[in-house]
Amino acid sequence: METIKVITGIVSLITLTHSLSHHEFCYQDPSCGPGMWVTYFPKCNGTHQSPIDIDTNSVQHNQSLRAFNFYNYNVTGTITDITNNGHTVGLYFEDGSVKISAGGLNGHYFAKQLHFHWGNNSHSPGSEHTLNGKQYSISMHIVHTKDGYPTAEAKNHSDGIAVLSFFIKLVDNKSEDAHWKSIFKPLKNISEPGQSVPFPGRFSLMDLISGVDLTKYYRYDGSLSSPGCDEAVVWTVFREHIVLNASVVEGLYHDIYVNKTDGKKLLNNFRPTMARNGRAVWASAALNSTSNGTRVTTSEPDTSTRKATQPKTTATPYPPKPNTTSTYTPRTTTVRSGSSGLPLARLSLLLPLALFLLAR
Ligand SMILES: *[C@@H]1O[C@H](CO)[C@@H](O)[C@H](O)[C@H]1NC(C)=O
Ligand SMILES: *[C@@H]1O[C@H](CO)[C@@H](O)[C@H](O)[C@H]1NC(C)=O
Ligand SMILES: *[C@@H]1O[C@H](CO)[C@@H](O)[C@H](O)[C@H]1NC(C)=O
Ligand SMILES: *[C@@H]1O[C@H](CO)[C@@H](O)[C@H](O)[C@H]1NC(C)=O
Ligand SMILES: *[C@@H]1O[C@H](CO)[C@@H](O)[C@H](O)[C@H]1NC(C)=O
Ligand SMILES: *[C@@H]1O[C@H](CO)[C@@H](O)[C@H](O)[C@H]1NC(C)=O
Ligand SMILES: *[C@@H]1O[C@H](CO)[C@@H](O)[C@H](O)[C@H]1NC(C)=O
Ligand SMILES: *[C@@H]1O[C@H](CO)[C@@H](O)[C@H](O)[C@H]1NC(C)=O
Ligand SMILES: *[C@@H]1O[C@H](CO)[C@@H](O)[C@H](O)[C@H]1NC(C)=O
Ligand SMILES: *[C@@H]1O[C@H](CO)[C@@H](O)[C@H](O)[C@H]1NC(C)=O
Ligand SMILES: *[C@@H]1O[C@H](CO)[C@@H](O)[C@H](O)[C@H]1NC(C)=O
Ligand SMILES: *[C@@H]1O[C@H](CO)[C@@H](O)[C@H](O)[C@H]1NC(C)=O
Repeated sequence: METIKVITGIVSLITLTHSLSHHEFCYQDPSCGPGMWVTYFPKCNGTHQSPIDIDTNSVQHNQSLRAFNFYNYNVTGTITDITNNGHTVGLYFEDGSVKISAGGLNGHYFAKQLHFHWGNNSHSPGSEHTLNGKQYSISMHIVHTKDGYPTAEAKNHSDGIAVLSFFIKLVDNKSEDAHWKSIFKPLKNISEPGQSVPFPGRFSLMDLISGVDLTKYYRYDGSLSSPGCDEAVVWTVFREHIVLNASVVEGLYHDIYVNKTDGKKLLNNFRPTMARNGRAVWASAALNSTSNGTRVTTSEPDTSTRKATQPKTTATPYPPKPNTTSTYTPRTTTVRSGSSGLPLARLSLLLPLALFLLAR
């Protein structure tokens, strides 16, 4: 039982207090939903909270917000596991394999996890941030922590975490994308909270996001959008959205449970927008309509006008990667929950997250 609790906790990057706190948080039940978070998680009552509505009429253009450098975003096999943590579906990255820099960030940030927020069904909106009041179908958040901060410490720094946020719009008249399909295919195998399976998908992050112009984004300082709500996040919200055939993501609405025994599904797992409280929201250089996204004199290598289909990515041979990128063989996807045991390698991957958690 202890093992189950610890593992459930370990996999909850955005659920920093899950299992260890006396109080659980949730989205749908009024006794533990977003309205109650402030009572049990004091940081959720802060003044720099997320998500927010991005009002494009009141953003400040900022010529220093240029293209990102993406490292290993174009390499396949960097995602190791997919997990239902009771609050979201999370995909975990091989440690130290994927990172970003530039884009107005102060330093390098390593990708740890990506997860989703969704509504009640494919016709019901579920994104966290909104754009001029419009709530999209789904949000995808790619969570990175700053190089140089031990993972456990990242949430203690106002710039400790960098999240790249993408809007997803669901339609019926778009062909099904095989890469995206492979993300949601294993959902049946992780229908209960705490379940995790090795990730079988074969694609790179760029395969998912290259349709979006990655130079057009909004930037502001905010928080984790779930408890403990630490105000440690440099947010990047991309202007353009990803379009998917609704059939691709159906599993989110049908296969993921908060509690399978009583049939309670995980739905509407988004926090409502929070007050901006005078915070600046900056628009990247490429969103400056006057300059049309073209270069302004700078000594830095300019990538702001790169086509989204040719983003600047770098494949760095990262610390001993266990052979997964070139000779990836789909592993047997047995459900692992509780004490049936995570292999040692997987535990070592999750250890930093455990520390992250225990540090509270
Ligand atoms: C939240 O903060 C406000 C003032 O900033 C305060 O009035 C209110 O009591 C706080 N709520 C809780 C639950 O602590
Ligand atoms: C531009 O954005 C950065 C954050 O990346 C901020 O520190 C800086 O103050 C902004 N500059 C202006 C002129 O607003
Ligand atoms: C969610 O969708 C189901 C059907 O898919 C419906 O019965 C239910 O009323 C909806 N709930 C909300 C809160 O919209
Ligand atoms: C983070 O900050 C909290 C409270 O400010 C402190 O108790 C904790 O030790 C810090 N954690 C790390 C890893 O620095
Ligand atoms: C899909 O349908 C929408 C309206 O429902 C339309 O605006 C769009 O052009 C269509 N796209 C394609 C590829 O047919
Ligand atoms: C979208 O998905 C549905 C259901 O699988 C399918 O019937 C439809 O043909 C797809 N749309 C396109 C344009 O491929
Ligand atoms: C998921 O579970 C089913 C049985 O419910 C099994 O056949 C399948 O191999 C498992 N793995 C994946 C990735 O679906
Ligand atoms: C799930 O629901 C069942 C039946 O209502 C209940 O007995 C059980 O305690 C619930 N599990 C959790 C983890 O809340
Ligand atoms: C937009 O770009 C033009 C040309 O580079 C520059 O002169 C102008 O100041 C920029 N506008 C804003 C609001 O930053
Ligand atoms: C604006 O962008 C278009 C293509 O995106 C380009 O053809 C055009 O030259 C640009 N205009 C200016 C004034 O930079
Ligand atoms: C990723 O991009 C870099 C830089 O453009 C390139 O050198 C490398 O070959 C690419 N790797 C893959 C797997 O496409
Ligand atoms: C990768 O794994 C295969 C089979 O497991 C092995 O034959 C090969 O030598 C490995 N390559 C490297 C570079 O480790």
